[in-house]
Amino acid sequence: MEENNSRVLSLLGGLAIGIVGLQVFRKVLPWIYANVVGPKVFGSSVNLAKMGEWAVVTGSTDGIGKAYAKELARRGLKLVLISRSLDKLNGVAKEISDKYNVEVRVIDVDFTGGAEIYEKINNQIKGMDIGVLVNNVGISYSHPEYFLDCYKADPQFLRNIVSANIHSVTHMTALVLPTMVAKGRGVIINLSSTAGVIPNPLLSVYSSTKAFVNKFSDDLQTEYKDQGILIQSVQPGFVATNMSKIRKATIFAPSPETYVRSALSTLGIAGQTAGYLPHALLQLVIHLTEAVFGEQFARNVVLKNILGTRKRALRRLTKEQ
Ligand SMILES: NC(=O)c1ccc[n+]([C@@H]2O[C@H](COP(=O)([O-])OP(=O)(O)OC[C@H]3O[C@@H](n4cnc5c(N)ncnc54)[C@H](OP(=O)(O)O)[C@@H]3O)[C@@H](O)[C@H]2O)c1
Repeated sequence: MEENNSRVLSLLGGLAIGIVGLQVFRKVLPWIYANVVGPKVFGSSVNLAKMGEWAVVTGSTDGIGKAYAKELARRGLKLVLISRSLDKLNGVAKEISDKYNVEVRVIDVDFTGGAEIYEKINNQIKGMDIGVLVNNVGISYSHPEYFLDCYKADPQFLRNIVSANIHSVTHMTALVLPTMVAKGRGVIINLSSTAGVIPNPLLSVYSSTKAFVNKFSDDLQTEYKDQGILIQSVQPGFVATNMSKIRKATIFAPSPETYVRSALSTLGIAGQTAGYLPHALLQLVIHLTEAVFGEQFARNVVLKNILGTRKRALRRLTKEQ
């Protein structure tokens, strides 16, 4: 009897070790490769300058988009910068062309607009050898808020978030992909957010648009991988930009330049990536919390945190009025 029990126990022990081993093999090792060994030891093997003469970057006069533009110019690509304000665009174009000695063209459009803006963009990029597209433009709430309060305050604003964060990605992709497919090479980088992969109440429209970006990128990559197209969805946590309102860079909210250098080191290694190790660790902690304590517990922790942010923002707004 005792012998039987110990045999069952050792069988169960072996099974448990097997399951843990399988999880390590399936999840832990790929995570370590995608976030640490791949980018930091091997580095990206994608030669962006070989993809084509030009790179197009949306939302490129500030923050992460401007940092992508500068890094692509440093690697020798000519640039098409697309943002709202022509003055800001001309300023950034001069800054980049003076520093990196590459041709920079600008297109001023407001991505909250309709189909007409894509006609304007198409007319200006038609025939260009575009090798890289960075779908970076994005807008978010001024502060976390309940959906109905947002809707009541300004239904058009929620529509604008969808136009700038979703329609820009699909339309811009549709404009440049045919040339890339014809050449059999090209890179499309889509800016999602950690908000799209973790619970993110009170920013629900913004975070849903970012979940769309992940799904769209993932399925599109499967469709066009065999045609030589690389599509990456990048999911930053906080980066010190106008959008986050974080002025001073820290390890968990890096400068856009630090973030972009890190994200580009994952290109060709990870299709869906936080792009920066501290942000990948943050996602991991939240996913582990969900796995160990349950999804509801993780949602409650995030909600409490975001309610705190909302309270501080509303207090600041009241003071300013
Ligand atoms: N910063 C973060 O913490 C963070 C975290 C996760 C994800 N992201 C994502 O990263 C991307 C870039 O964010 P960011 O923080 O760099 O933003 P940002 O500093 O606010 O810069 C946004 C850029 O987009 C342009 N832009 C804004 N609205 C536009 C519109 N309606 N039409 C055309 N251009 C417009 C702005 O230029 P003009 O004002 O001159 O047009 C600016 O160049 C976004 O997709 C965002 O969702 C950011």
